[in-house]
Amino acid sequence: MISKPARTIITYGTFDLFHVGHVRLLQRLADLGDRLIVACSTVEFNALKGKTTAVPYADRVEVLQACRYVDQVIPEETWAQKRDDIARLGADLFAMGDDWAGKFDDLRDLCDVLYLPRKENVSTTELKELIQHMPEKSSAE
Ligand code: CTP
Repeated sequence: MISKPARTIITYGTFDLFHVGHVRLLQRLADLGDRLIVACSTVEFNALKGKTTAVPYADRVEVLQACRYVDQVIPEETWAQKRDDIARLGADLFAMGDDWAGKFDDLRDLCDVLYLPRKENVSTTELKELIQHMPEKSSAE
């Protein structure tokens, strides 16, 4: 019997305040292949993107490593590293949520490129806003 060649998928993101939108994306990506690699944005790279994170880089990596859908976590440090990562790690599919639709089509000469619909009504930005507006616990409690 000829076995199907392994299919490696790679995705990139900050994954701050890990939430169900992240879980659903990683679950759907894991279903598309045999090995899911997640590149997690470092604090310095987030600064370049104009983002600050609530959860430190090492903790975001640890959470991703504990996620059953993820096989490997690497650092995301530059915009330009994707081509090298895809070649070095043998990725067959590059995938992101559709807030990035069309942004990485130039990678199509290296591998398949896919944008999946985001889970609605959840994002790190929304969670941060919700936390900011949570009522203070009364001191009597
Ligand atoms: N993602 C998703 N569904 C959501 C939120 C995020 O599929 N509801 C995906 C994004 O499209 C991206 C990956 O998860 O491919 C990592 O996204 P990230 O930017 O870390 O999460 P967001 O919640 O979008 O964070 P922010 O609000 O800071 O943009």
